[in-house]
Amino acid sequence: CQSTQQESTEMKSLIVAHRGASFEAPENTVASAQLAWQQNADAVEVDIHTSKDQRIMVIHDKNTKRTCGADMLVKETLADSLRALEAGSWKDVKYEGEPLPFLEEVIETIPAGKKLYVEIKCEKTVVPLLKEMLAQHPKKEQILFIAFDYETIVATKEAFPENKAYWLSSKLPEDYKSLFEKVKKDKLDGVDLSHKVIDAEVVKTAGELGLEVHTWTVNDLERANELQTIGVKSITTDKPGEILGGLQ
Ligand code: G3P
Ligand code: CA
Repeated sequence: CQSTQQESTEMKSLIVAHRGASFEAPENTVASAQLAWQQNADAVEVDIHTSKDQRIMVIHDKNTKRTCGADMLVKETLADSLRALEAGSWKDVKYEGEPLPFLEEVIETIPAGKKLYVEIKCEKTVVPLLKEMLAQHPKKEQILFIAFDYETIVATKEAFPENKAYWLSSKLPEDYKSLFEKVKKDKLDGVDLSHKVIDAEVVKTAGELGLEVHTWTVNDLERANELQTIGVKSITTDKPGEILGGLQ
């Protein structure tokens, strides 16, 4: 029956690979993005920081110790030195030699019809750099922005009115409706919340204001199915292949 199929298609949550397919491959690398695309993820999420010479680097932490071994602050290090690091072998020796990528390199991997969630971890001075990088970029419309810092995400949306932008949060106040009204007034497209604070009422309240609800980081299939049922727009996971394979 056409209408039932239509309904079930509309209710599917998009599956977003958290830092790429980061359960299996080293997070925030081209290899983890490529693995996520192979697993048919709808989108990849990556984190960005800026180097000392204002290049946009893909890395979660503000320093390189955990994923590259060497203890360097990204914002105080030149991009050439960051590129000389190795961001793969901490995860698995088969990824030895995987570089710490420039954002452009991950953008190049996005297949047609897929999206990249760019999480701004650094100061909002990155916004004009993003603007310059993406100005004529053929994949600009495939980029969505997220940030925990409220001012940063509002400034990003102002700079990129045609791209979706969502505010990240791990908690919600009791009066989350007022918060959502502010998010709407500030022209954001929605919120990207820890799944621990989401229930059907949260999604309904946001929806009534015309806001999308996205969520992270969900590696449990049963929870992913619950979140899809209550209407979350996307589910970010370290295991995109497994979640896609079992999502109803
Ligand atoms: O998708 C949002 C999520 O990535 C936020 O947390 O610490 O993994 O960047 P974190
Ligand atoms: Ca992130």
